[in-house]
Amino acid sequence: MSFYITTPIYYVNAQPHLGHAYTTIAADTLARHMRQRGEDVFFLTGTDEHGEPVAQVAEREGITPRELADRNAARFKALMPRIEASNDFFIRTSDPEHVAKVQEILQRVHDNGHVYAGIYEGWYCPSCADFKTESEIGPGNTCLIHEIPLLREHEQNWFFRLSSFQEPLERLYRDQPDFVLPRIRANEARSFIDQGLQDVSLSRANLRWGVPVPWDPEQVFYVWFDALLNYVTALSYARPGEDLTERYWPATFHFIGKDILKFHGVYWPALLMAADLELPEHLFVHGFLLMDDKKMSKSLGNVLDPFEVMDKYGTDALRYYCLRDVSFGQDGNVSPASFETRYDTELANEYGNLASRTIAMIIRYRDGAIPAVDTDPELAGDFGGLAAEVAALADRAELTQALDVIWQRVRRLNRYVEERAPWQLAKDAAAAPALDQTLASLVEGIRVVSVLLHPYMPASAGRLLEALDALDLDYDRARFAERGPGGRVTALEPLFPKSA
Ligand code: ME8
Ligand code: MG
Repeated sequence: MSFYITTPIYYVNAQPHLGHAYTTIAADTLARHMRQRGEDVFFLTGTDEHGEPVAQVAEREGITPRELADRNAARFKALMPRIEASNDFFIRTSDPEHVAKVQEILQRVHDNGHVYAGIYEGWYCPSCADFKTESEIGPGNTCLIHEIPLLREHEQNWFFRLSSFQEPLERLYRDQPDFVLPRIRANEARSFIDQGLQDVSLSRANLRWGVPVPWDPEQVFYVWFDALLNYVTALSYARPGEDLTERYWPATFHFIGKDILKFHGVYWPALLMAADLELPEHLFVHGFLLMDDKKMSKSLGNVLDPFEVMDKYGTDALRYYCLRDVSFGQDGNVSPASFETRYDTELANEYGNLASRTIAMIIRYRDGAIPAVDTDPELAGDFGGLAAEVAALADRAELTQALDVIWQRVRRLNRYVEERAPWQLAKDAAAAPALDQTLASLVEGIRVVSVLLHPYMPASAGRLLEALDALDLDYDRARFAERGPGGRVTALEPLFPKSA
């Protein structure tokens, strides 16, 4: 089966921060999990380069929008391997192939009768690139998200007949209750629709930095329509000489933050209908990473630098922390203090130390040979159904819950070490069979959790599996007693060295 997953494309008006890394890490984790399950995965991320958000900052810095876009797109692109994102393509909306495809699709929307000329009069946030409706306007005509004054706009431009999709959108939300996950975000999108949809500007008259409207080259498309279409256009040119649209469209999951739900939950399905394209299966809408209860954002300046965290603790620790400490789907505070606690207690002790201890004992007591004996049925029982449970949670993108059920087994293995006290068994020749069983069972448990943890922490789980001579990530291997007896361990440097 094909599995197509996307992140938002990020504005190139500033450098990447942890919020951008967050969505990408989450999408990457699910992409890797699905690859293990043998799905035909395509994972897309990239940059959103047009519109006021970019044009305004470029002007402020005295450079052209393209210079700014080139500079920051390079930084976003460099972020991807740094966070171990396994994206299959990186789209830039300034790519000429994207531009041409946007023009083709929106020309079709026009020819299908969904576009007309009109005058826009209302409030606009240049940072959101959003024409705000009544309920989205803060005190003193400010943006609720960016806390900046809104601009009063009055211009002649092209309109998209969003209002004519009132019924189809109502039906979509009624018939596909899991179109938007989690459920509370679906309710939010519905209530926006229930207020009554108004037509929305499809183009901008006073902006040059964008995709020219083919039937009126004096105007450029409103950046959101250009941006949303990336999810479709990318497939047409990601592989030179090949069109992947048939193979991967419609998308399985769009991962987005809750700030851009209106665009993805309302405009996007309407635009797709207007263009005679199929709708994605699911949007998963996650919450905000907060610092001291405020959204981390470049405009507010309270950002945690993901590069700094990774330099000090490694990429896996950042990936783990993001999906562990903040329940995926909800808002949550992040802080250096809670990061360090998770790192020391969970990564260094519960997982890293479990692995090093087990390997060290096998080297010490059994010369590195994993005892070729049956594993402990009682411990096996505690792993029963685990892989299926993780897969079911992953199907709904419940990444934190999936991590939690895996981690319960990590903790179970730590208790098992304490219960069996292999260092005691080693003192008594008569306990040799018990020691064999204990060591073989620990290896098997660690192997299973590591196969399941691999999407979250690919480098560390991979190193550990290699040290256990068991680097086979196939999801069928994520069951207890699948490994087969025997094999050798090799010494392992600490996976998560204690912080200095
Ligand atoms: O909105 N917590 O780009 P953008 C969690 N170009 N996620 C966060 C976050 C935070 N504090 N800050 C940012 C745009 N994000 C448009 C999208 S898509 C067709 C066009 C993540 O650079 C989150 O995914 O403002 C959010 O939705 C996205 O970055 C916004 O990135
Ligand atoms: Mg933003």
